Amino acid sequence: MKDASPQTIYLKDYTPFGYVVEGVELTFALAPEATRVKSRIRFAPNPDATDRTFFLHGEDLTLISAAIDGTPVTPTLTEQGLTCEVPDAPFTWEAEVEIAPAKNTALEGLYMSNGMYCTQCEAEGFRKITYYPDRPDVMATFDVRIESDLPVMLSNGNPGTQDGGVAEWHDPWPKPSYLFALVAGDLEARSDSFTTRSGRHVDLNLWVRPGDLGKTAWGMEALRTSMRWDEEVYGREYDLDVFNIVAVDDFNMGAMENKGLNIFNSSAVLASQDTSTDANFERIEAIIAHEYFHNWTGNRITCRDWFQLCLKEGLTVFRDSQFTADQRSAPVKRIGDVIDLRARQFPEDQGPLSHPVRPESFQEINNFYTATVYEKGAEVIGMLKRLVGDEAYDKAVALYFERHDGQACTIEDWLQVFEDTTGRDLSQFKRWYTQSGTPRLSVEESYEGARYTLTFRQRTPATPGQSEKLPQVLPVAVGLLSPGGEEVLPTQLLEVTEPEQSFTFDNMPDRPIPSLLRGFSAPVVLERESDAAEQAFLLAHDTDPYCRWEAGRGLARGSLVASVVDGADPDGAWLDALQAVVTDPALDPAYRALMMGLPTQSELAQALYEKGITPDPDAIRDAVEATVRATADRWADDLPGLSEEARVAEPYAPDAQQSGKRALGTRVLSLVSRLDGGSAAEAQFEAADNMTLKLAALGNLVRLERADDALAAFEAQWKDDRLVMDKWFGIQIMSAPAPVAVERAEALTGHAAFDWTNPNRFRAVMGALVSNHAGFHRADGAGYDFLAGWLARLDEKNPQTAARMATAFQTWRRYDDDRQAKMRAALESLRDKPKLSRDMGEMVARLLG
Ligand code: BES
Ligand code: ZN
Repeated sequence: MKDASPQTIYLKDYTPFGYVVEGVELTFALAPEATRVKSRIRFAPNPDATDRTFFLHGEDLTLISAAIDGTPVTPTLTEQGLTCEVPDAPFTWEAEVEIAPAKNTALEGLYMSNGMYCTQCEAEGFRKITYYPDRPDVMATFDVRIESDLPVMLSNGNPGTQDGGVAEWHDPWPKPSYLFALVAGDLEARSDSFTTRSGRHVDLNLWVRPGDLGKTAWGMEALRTSMRWDEEVYGREYDLDVFNIVAVDDFNMGAMENKGLNIFNSSAVLASQDTSTDANFERIEAIIAHEYFHNWTGNRITCRDWFQLCLKEGLTVFRDSQFTADQRSAPVKRIGDVIDLRARQFPEDQGPLSHPVRPESFQEINNFYTATVYEKGAEVIGMLKRLVGDEAYDKAVALYFERHDGQACTIEDWLQVFEDTTGRDLSQFKRWYTQSGTPRLSVEESYEGARYTLTFRQRTPATPGQSEKLPQVLPVAVGLLSPGGEEVLPTQLLEVTEPEQSFTFDNMPDRPIPSLLRGFSAPVVLERESDAAEQAFLLAHDTDPYCRWEAGRGLARGSLVASVVDGADPDGAWLDALQAVVTDPALDPAYRALMMGLPTQSELAQALYEKGITPDPDAIRDAVEATVRATADRWADDLPGLSEEARVAEPYAPDAQQSGKRALGTRVLSLVSRLDGGSAAEAQFEAADNMTLKLAALGNLVRLERADDALAAFEAQWKDDRLVMDKWFGIQIMSAPAPVAVERAEALTGHAAFDWTNPNRFRAVMGALVSNHAGFHRADGAGYDFLAGWLARLDEKNPQTAARMATAFQTWRRYDDDRQAKMRAALESLRDKPKLSRDMGEMVARLLG
């Protein structure tokens, strides 16, 4: 458990491994308490390396025997692995180890979930399966033999002999150990097939526990769509005869891109109308695409070391966003991504956990699968594409695949293909990868004699370990509107590279109104003296859907901040301007639903913090509630018509059009339930034929404290469905009135179905409490103590999931002294706990700063 002095790993210390692996053969004799793993690995000295230390990673393994070229050897064992004397020439290493998958509660390596064997090896889980150079720059082909009496036994690649009790798999593509996977159990498949555009026939299987087959149609459809899309848009074909996906109930993350054998958290792949919301369907489609896209961006071209994680994750998130934009509505997807970035990445980048998209050091790599590496990493690629243009982007990416197929690469390799195709110098752009923190961009305008000038100033506040910041390349997409609302300058990309920089626009007969940062063209905080009249103008006239939405959002923030700070009434001008947009039948219902959404309470806390004001969670909650009520009152006459528009007459489908309507309906219901005390919500709960409408209704009833009957009925109906019960646990806490949220969470942890070792169930309760902003931040600190207590408990079983959840404390320094002291105490109690994991140890140390 706790390392005496946990080691810090640095990017600058990278050296290649002293040996190459020419092939791996593994044999698994499966047994819950005593699985035997035999390995046969062909090593040869690596001509590109100077250090010939033969060190193999290995953790929690019992070594039974080891031999080199058939002669038994006695390696030196440590907690982290082994070293051994080896020949100065190619040799074959053989070892046998014993492991206990049934006792593996960390869900890394080989473990069991509901009687089924499965693996999770990224990032450093393979070392819990056998001794191996468990680093992504060691790539090898794998031949796997599995022995057990279970009916289904899977591994990577193409199937070989599949005889009673034995299954063989051969993966012809060299891969790093983190992409290894094995699954065995009593499983059933939905099967289909796909023919690649060059004519390869691929068998597709989605494996689930018996009983879940009815939830597999959507996942399979999403897989086929993803495969076609990657051929059409990136020219990338699938490269094996089978593609298997397995759904697993106990899984730390959403899903994993193991070569030819993707393993999914069942919540990220199983869906049906009765059990899943529209948001679940959309997320599933995106995750299937994401993991499938990794086959090229991650698997065929992988990372040299874990510092390069954004090379595969940032790029693959960018690709899955493009995919979703194509399948659904591009503006709605973009706005959703911006909301998500600001809600998760901005707080990270402006607090104690701030780190560059490519970090320079870590103790536990699991702690760096972050919104910064993923979402900011994807934004960086979006900026690159904007700067070089779509055609050059396509050329550069094609060169990347051609030049680096089969290699383990770095961000330098990635940027080099862009430099080579465009002739551009990207050294300043590279700061997006090395410099942490959210740049702030302020704007000033002047207008003189038909010349309009925009002056930008950029500045990035200091972040942990980085006090001096250099100017970055900020692509700022700008359009100009005339006072009459006409677009006088269509979108132009300005490149802000200096600390201060001006751009002039001539022949402007009238002073134009700027539409700035169109499409959210750079992940910055745009500081602009809020001018409500201008925002209302843009809300009415902007042609850029993101800027139009952002204008409304800016007005909402302004109004809410004024309510929080001096108890002002909601801004009537904003509500009237918004009303015009929301009731405009020419606009997409999904877009109107986004327009109706108020900033969340934590987003307001973030906005206040960015303005230098200490957020008061109770005042924020009161201001939001007062604003929602005022909106409901003001729009009362429009609500029945909007409800009607949101009604879906056709049979349920989770497509963009229908989900847009239901999203609008859900916004309307939340307003209506402010006026009718919940009767419409009750009626909807009774009548709903899908989970989207059911859950929306239930949330309102919980908030109004009249959900007892509905909750009981829901539980009776769904007690045997783990994924639906996660929703049942979550909504009671998420939507609870803030003062009782902690007690609700506490009571639910006593429920017989609260299996806290299941990551989904643990997150359903703890994540829901954290998302209830005023509930979690209750002034007496009960929320903090409750969470810290459970994190301490989970840390002993599952450090990865516990440490991730600890990020709930990342904003602790922005609150008042009392709350700060209470959060600090909660964190210190964690820090001082004996047997703290490396994951949690590093996390808490960084949080405390
Ligand atoms: N490679 C990751 C899964 C992973 C993350 C494994 C951390 C080990 C440690 C996978 O490709 C991934 O990124 N999954 C995301 C979902 C995706 C849509 C962003 C996840 O699991 O949340
Ligand atoms: Zn990924």
